[in-house]
Amino acid sequence: MAMPISGFIIATLVALVGVYMGMSIYSNYNCECCDNKRISLDVKGLEEDFKSRLFGQHIASEVILKAVKGSLSTPNPKKPLTMSLHGYSGTGKNFASQLLAQNLYKNGLTSQYYHVFTATLHFPHVQLIDQYQNDLRKWIRGNVTLCPRSMFIFDEMDKMHPGLINAIKPFLDYTNEVDKVDYRKAIFIFLSNTGGDKINELTLSFLMSGKKRESIKLSELEEELSMTVFNNSNSGFWQTTLIQTNLIDHFIPFLPLEFEHVMSCVRAELKSRGVTNESIVATIASSMVYYPKEEKLLSVKGCKTVASKVNLYF
Ligand SMILES: *[C@@H]1O[C@H](CO)[C@@H](O)[C@H](O)[C@H]1NC(C)=O
Ligand SMILES: *[C@@H]1O[C@H](CO)[C@@H](O)[C@H](O)[C@H]1NC(C)=O
Repeated sequence: MAMPISGFIIATLVALVGVYMGMSIYSNYNCECCDNKRISLDVKGLEEDFKSRLFGQHIASEVILKAVKGSLSTPNPKKPLTMSLHGYSGTGKNFASQLLAQNLYKNGLTSQYYHVFTATLHFPHVQLIDQYQNDLRKWIRGNVTLCPRSMFIFDEMDKMHPGLINAIKPFLDYTNEVDKVDYRKAIFIFLSNTGGDKINELTLSFLMSGKKRESIKLSELEEELSMTVFNNSNSGFWQTTLIQTNLIDHFIPFLPLEFEHVMSCVRAELKSRGVTNESIVATIASSMVYYPKEEKLLSVKGCKTVASKVNLYF
């Protein structure tokens, strides 16, 4: 009788261990742990995505890629990575940030470490500014405590209340710790239209003189941006803060898009719906508005309304 009982006990133990291991594998599988398995930059993937999905942004692609490669390969960065993306809507600022998140977090845009704040959506009421400031500080602190490699996107920075900008500022600096938390592995990305006029003007003048957009260099735009936009006294608190504090690592211009880029956007949108039809691509791209009136070189809304235009055809 002794044998079957001990056999039974052993079998039970084996089963229990098995269940336990299964459960821990399962919970590990479910947990979005803050580790290298869940968070590591896929440089090739990002490069490929920028090449094949982000249209017409040769400067932004290059600068963002270099910046994140540099910052994320440093085990102990000296400050958080801070990038300010400039350009009119529909040029891909949001999209570029999303591609970065998708190539950094295994869980992509659903990652709990990816946070997007939109001025008019999350912080719409001026009278609640104190509360917003507190919330924002608490959230950034809480999330970076959970995972140092957190990413925060602030959209519509030009509409952000100065108080909120002040609330974010301490996190961007070269300090070891703010409040016992180390923010230097975090990534902060700011999106705004600021400087969009200048970027568009320069791009247009290149195109009008028969030059290709790819020949526009970052240095030309940076100089242009800093000289005209940032010296402009009525260009708002955001720019002033940026200039005065030196907290932003990279100012990245997003150029206005041409017809061929809009074509590419439409093609990609159709493809995502399983449609390949070049005549529809051309029709939809042509239904967008371009300027100047005569030459029709640049899309007024970039690729912003492409998805809704495509909807009209299906
Ligand atoms: C992280 O940020 C989100 C907002 O994106 C907030 O709702 C949440 O409470 C924050 N988590 C912590 C632990 O602070
Ligand atoms: C492409 O779309 C056009 C316009 O809707 C249609 O007339 C044509 O048959 C389509 N071509 C193919 C190959 O589906």
